[in-house]
Amino acid sequence: MKKILILNGPNLNMLGKRQPEIYGNRSFEDYFRKLKKMFPQVQLDYYQSNHEGDLIDKLQEAGVKYDGVVFNPAAYTHTSIALRDTVSAIEIPVAEVHISNIYEREKFRHTSYIKDVAAFSIVGKGMDGYAEAVERLLKNN
Ligand code: DQA
Repeated sequence: MKKILILNGPNLNMLGKRQPEIYGNRSFEDYFRKLKKMFPQVQLDYYQSNHEGDLIDKLQEAGVKYDGVVFNPAAYTHTSIALRDTVSAIEIPVAEVHISNIYEREKFRHTSYIKDVAAFSIVGKGMDGYAEAVERLLKNN
């Protein structure tokens, strides 16, 4: 059975409550239940952290335990060379996902340090972007 980790960065624990006009009003836990039903053939695990070092630890661990990661680094996308280095260092594919279209928002969101080292990126498709990322990881992009 394939194992895929869904990894969410800072403030994504507030999905459903946080700026619903941008991120929708569904909690991630609720969406994750749907995701698991959509992919019964896959072992899907979910982890969220507001801390950069935690995300680094989890990615390193995922590198030897999972077949792929769907990663929404949230605001760290635009700041973290450390997370970029981890994505480069691990050997499994990491899909970058953003709920909103970062390229159509404020200028400071247009830079993604993750993009070049990710297997592929999905932006602006809402929560459905996670399902698309799982599908593409299973098909090897
Ligand atoms: C986000 C976009 C980021 O710019 C922002 O900091 C987030 C969420 C998204 O999913 O659209 O926290 O990654």
